[in-house]
Amino acid sequence: MRRLTIAIDGYSSCGKSTLAKEIAQKLNYVYADSGAMYRAVTLHMLNKGILKDGAFITKQVAQELNAIHIRFKFDSASNRSETYLNDENVEKDIRNSKITKHVSVISAVREVREKLVEIQQKMGIEGGVVMDGRDIGTVVFPNAEIKLFMTATNQIRAERRYKELIEKGESISLEQVANDLKKRDHYDMNREISPLRKAEDAIEIDNSDLDRESQLAMAIAIIEKKKVDLQEKV
Ligand code: DC
Repeated sequence: MRRLTIAIDGYSSCGKSTLAKEIAQKLNYVYADSGAMYRAVTLHMLNKGILKDGAFITKQVAQELNAIHIRFKFDSASNRSETYLNDENVEKDIRNSKITKHVSVISAVREVREKLVEIQQKMGIEGGVVMDGRDIGTVVFPNAEIKLFMTATNQIRAERRYKELIEKGESISLEQVANDLKKRDHYDMNREISPLRKAEDAIEIDNSDLDRESQLAMAIAIIEKKKVDLQEKV
């Protein structure tokens, strides 16, 4: 049977990447973090001074895209796939608050989306991929066999993100984290191009009260059922 394409979308800090990685590991599929690609483009634009204080000229961003090469490489020491921007490992640099603060404006640029969507679609051409993001089930893989849409309460998402940032040594209040999340969701849901939406055929998973094992078990049950349905159709 063809290996499936699994699209996972949802709000920020809903545990999409945790679930996506675990599914990929369990099924021996490739995990692709589309958010990391938008983060890498944002880092590049900041480094080049094209994005400054939240402002940029779209034409300059579009031109600079030609100088950007993004790829993922599996690192056996950390047991995870890491993001490379022009052959430099930027996995850590793209996760800080500065990038998080600027990524929504860069990911709303049409040219940026067109370039990244094209790369993402190539990554999924043979199936056997789990990709998480905001537009994976709606734009990148509208024909994905499995589409999941993750949600959790605002309070729980803010607490998760806060814990993550504190563990990384950042100094920030829970209130600030909650406000930043709200802003980013608002931006991602209201941008003109490919806004965050639940695909009509996506299955929603609210993981506010689920631990990692239960969440994974739920997703695997959905995938197994789909495989049976697909085989019955043949
Ligand atoms: O999943 P993440 O928090 O790392 O994503 C960072 C940002 O990238 C997110 O706020 C919106 C953008 N993004 C997007 O527009 N489309 C995607 N498929 C993935 C991420």
